[in-house]
Amino acid sequence: MKKGVLFVCLGNICRSPMAEAIFSHLIVQQHLEAHFFCDSAGTSAYHIGEPPDDRALAMLQSKGLRTTHRARQFIAADAQRFSYIFTMDKSNYEDVEAMTGFRPTALALVRDYDPKGKGEDVPDPYYGGKEGFEEVYNMLLRSLQHFLQQHKQPHK
Ligand code: 4NP
Repeated sequence: MKKGVLFVCLGNICRSPMAEAIFSHLIVQQHLEAHFFCDSAGTSAYHIGEPPDDRALAMLQSKGLRTTHRARQFIAADAQRFSYIFTMDKSNYEDVEAMTGFRPTALALVRDYDPKGKGEDVPDPYYGGKEGFEEVYNMLLRSLQHFLQQHKQPHK
């Protein structure tokens, strides 16, 4: 059965839609479409219905990636639909934990998989410059490549 991976940040317009686009690309590249699906959500209602931030879209486009995602808010039922919930920072982690009322074993910080900063936050790039988005991209790519290396199932 396909396993769902949900990426969560605060606004769902910068970090988590980038994570979703990168993960989708890796899934296709590694022929894992039969094993994984993914989505993203925000803990806040600030940007519901909006496309990702222009700087996130530009960063993705520079790497040949696209997204049609529109921001949505995380709901408690997501904890049932998704096998893995990866939050961008500790604040999102605590919000998801509080909303789901229990601690699903697969709730983790996305950078728990980052060999260059295990357990650290993906910094919020919203109020910074373009460089922040590149840094976020690199952290996410490293983390998600490592997650897939650890969780890939052998092909039939
Ligand atoms: P994100 O970035 O959580 O990575 O989508 C943010 C986007 C918007 C706001 C904060 C963070 N905001 O306060 O509007």
